[in-house]
Amino acid sequence: MKTCVCAILVCLLCLPASRAKSSAPAVQVYSRRPGDVKDNTLVCHVTGFYPPDIRIELTQNKREMPGAQQTDLAFEENWHYHLIKHVPFTPHKEDTYACNVTHMGRSSIYTWEPDM
Ligand SMILES: *[C@@H]1O[C@H](CO)[C@@H](O)[C@H](O)[C@H]1NC(C)=O
Repeated sequence: MKTCVCAILVCLLCLPASRAKSSAPAVQVYSRRPGDVKDNTLVCHVTGFYPPDIRIELTQNKREMPGAQQTDLAFEENWHYHLIKHVPFTPHKEDTYACNVTHMGRSSIYTWEPDM
């Protein structure tokens, strides 16, 4: 009898873990219009991550850019999530623009290439 209760408890504990494994985000940084044009938008597209807890920063010379907007958290198949963060900007040649994604305690920096 005791063994039986234990088995059920163990099974209940495994359920949430088997539903989804952790997955690192795939990140793309791009501008809505090509190159160095005025009144552009910097976009950071983050997909395929789990768990959903994530922090995305758009930075100009390593400082967070004000006025960025983020889409609602949406999920794809397999319980993986995706998010888009974007901010209006007029790029300056001397400046470095990047997206800093922090997931499961690990930060990665993705730099924007203006002539893509
Ligand atoms: C990236 O974001 C994390 C979390 O907000 C922060 O601690 C870190 O300093 C940032 N790195 C850069 C280079 O902006």
